[in-house]
Formats: sequence, C-alpha cells, structure tokens
Amino acid sequence: MKRPIIALDFPDLGSVQLFLKKFPSHEKLFVKVGMELFYEDGPEVVRYLKRQGHDIFLDLKLHDIPNTVESGMRRIAGMGVAITNVHAAGGTEMMAAALRGLEAGKPVGATRAKLIAVTQLTSTSEKQMQADQLIAASLEESVRHYAQCAQKAGLDGVVCSGQEVAAIKKATDAGFICLTPGIRPTGAAVGDQKRVMTPGAAREIGADYIVVGRPITQAADPYDAYTQIKKEWNGVAK
Ligand code: C5P
Repeated sequence: MKRPIIALDFPDLGSVQLFLKKFPSHEKLFVKVGMELFYEDGPEVVRYLKRQGHDIFLDLKLHDIPNTVESGMRRIAGMGVAITNVHAAGGTEMMAAALRGLEAGKPVGATRAKLIAVTQLTSTSEKQMQADQLIAASLEESVRHYAQCAQKAGLDGVVCSGQEVAAIKKATDAGFICLTPGIRPTGAAVGDQKRVMTPGAAREIGADYIVVGRPITQAADPYDAYTQIKKEWNGVAK
C-alpha cells in the first residue's frame, strides 16, 4: 500500500520521538522533515528516523546560486533521504546543479534521492504572484511553466496543490511526479490551508504522493487517523 507522507512539523527531535511512540514500532513510515525540525536538530533527526526504518522527504526548499545549491545537495545526498527539493524560481540552471550535487554526493551503491521542485507556493495567490514577482501570466501558466523547467533540468517532479495536478500531468512526460500537500480527510479542520483535497480525490486526479500534517499529528489517535487516511489514499473501503 502507498503511504501518505506525514509532515513532522515539530520543534525538536524529542517531540518527534514522543509522537512516534503512538505508532506500532513495526510500522515503517514515510515522513517529512521540514525547516523547523532541521534547523533545530539537523542531520541527527534524519539519522534517527533512518535508524528506525522510516523513509524521509527532506523539505528544505533550496534556492541560491547554482554553485551553492550544488554543494548543499552534495551534503544532503550523504544523508540517504528518499526525496528532497528546491524552488523552481531558482532557475533551470540551479535545478540542474542541484541534481548534479545529489548525484555526486550519493554514497556508492545508494539510490539517488528523488529531486522535486516547488513551483508557486500554495500560500501564494495569483494576485500576489503578479504583484510581488511581476509575472503577468496566470498562476496556472506559471506553475505549468515551472514544472516544464524542472523537467528540462532533469528533476523527478514537483510539489503542487491538488488543483494543479491535472494541468502538470498534461504538460509533462509520463512518470513526472506530483507530490501534493493540503490534504484533508472529509470533515477535518482545514486550518490555514486554502486549496484542500481529500486523500481519495488526490488519488483520483493522479497525485503520486500526498503530504499530511495536522490531520495526523493533532489527532486524538494519530495511528488511527493515519490508518484511515492511508486506506482512503489507496482506495480501500473503510
Ligand atoms: O498540517 P498540514 O497537512 O497543512 O501540513 C502540510 C505540510 O506540507 C506542511 O509541512 C507545509 O509546510 C507543507 N507544504 C504545504 N504547501 C506547500 C509545500 C509544503 O502545505 N506548497
């Protein structure tokens, strides 16, 4: 069964360890480590999660000059994460450099982490994008363009909202990954997410991975919430 990626939006490793105690130890998870956790406890968090047998999406969204991103990715490659990412706004050259870094830093015999690009953040509205970035195109056109740039640079896919999956799949080659946050099971609190989608709808529109945070991390019974979301994501009747 495909696993939803759990966003470990916690301040430190201790909080993560407390949270993971709510899951059976045999359950191998796919988890997302973001800036908050990484900036506090660094690569040790990744090493700890790997020792527990979990797969990791390291969500640090690199965006800098190509040389700096390449060097950063070389370091990330050594950590053995399954997926990591950059901002497509850094440009095709920067994305290609990121990929080179991941290839170069990969331990002998290891599989290279999948590299995906953030297109337009889901917190950015079309109006904000046009005003702040001076982009005259529509949000969808911009997202599609960034996805095509990411593909041209050799990346494996993009992070996008559920609403953008169909357009991206149409504009890119088969196998180009769409990883989708903003997932809410029916009836769950939406929080600050604006464009949400259920796990079942995400499956139907062809998303390849879903990222789920608060509906699991804030649930009274996180393991039960995870199990229900996993079933819906896999189209298994409850
Ligand atoms: O709690 P929730 O399910 O909203 O968490 C979604 C996770 O996905 C958070 O870690 C958030 O930072 C991340 N994310 C997102 N939208 C993006 C990229 C990442 O919600 N475009």
